[in-house]
Amino acid sequence: MRDWGKESEYLHSTRRHLWNNDYFEFLVKCVWKIDKPVKIIDFGCGYGYLAQLFLPIIPKGSTYKGIDISEQLIENAKEIFCDNSESVSFEVADLNDYKPTAEYDVVICQAVLRHLPNPVQILKKMIDTAKDGGLVICTEPSRRLENAGVYIDSTDFYPFKNDDYLEQKWIKEIKSGGRDYQIGIKLPIVMERLGLKNIGVRINDYVDYVRSEDKDEISRFLSDHDVDSEFSDSNGFVAARCHVISYGNK
Ligand SMILES: C[S@@+](CC[C@H](N)C(=O)[O-])C[C@H]1O[C@@H](n2cnc3c(N)ncnc32)[C@H](O)[C@@H]1O
Repeated sequence: MRDWGKESEYLHSTRRHLWNNDYFEFLVKCVWKIDKPVKIIDFGCGYGYLAQLFLPIIPKGSTYKGIDISEQLIENAKEIFCDNSESVSFEVADLNDYKPTAEYDVVICQAVLRHLPNPVQILKKMIDTAKDGGLVICTEPSRRLENAGVYIDSTDFYPFKNDDYLEQKWIKEIKSGGRDYQIGIKLPIVMERLGLKNIGVRINDYVDYVRSEDKDEISRFLSDHDVDSEFSDSNGFVAARCHVISYGNK
């Protein structure tokens, strides 16, 4: 199993380029319609990035709890939120064994189901953790959509370059019981099968754009998007994040 505690730097870097805050606020206020205090639980919270997005815009009196298997990331999260101990809490736990002790208005996960061999089981646990009428939200990537969203201004750039690589990787990881590169796009159907109602689907509107002069940002882009460093002298870089956001009511 991948130890995300060792990839804290990658997590922090990619999270700085994952959401437009205004789009997240639009989801909270206009789509999920969170207009009174809520109890939120975040499955596989990492260092608490989603809490950073939620806290400034959810009604006062709301609480957030993050669960993660990585002790290192939970320690990091506790440091980041040390001034918010009344409304924010974190716990080290394996989602497979975790038994929630309360019911939540909002049960969310981001980029977690993609890495698990049993995403349906964990989604079921998320649904069981939500109150009646509560919201279950999954924001998960779909690797082929992500790949399609990359453009690099170079004569060497061929948009289908990664397709064979992705196909091989997808087959290998599915066969070995590993992560599912397509989970994001499948989730609304899985949610319906598991009995969720009022299912909605969105695509994150973040597009990462890097100008050719900004060498630090170029190396950040190549590493964040897992792009070959042969493109480091290219003229410009664009990638749509393509996270699929699926949500439904219990
Ligand atoms: C790609 S990271 C996403 C972290 C966070 N949701 C975010 O978007 O910044 C995946 C997270 O899932 C956590 N995770 C993986 N398997 C887990 C499990 N069985 N129980 C709890 N957390 C798990 C990892 O430790 C890691 O923090």
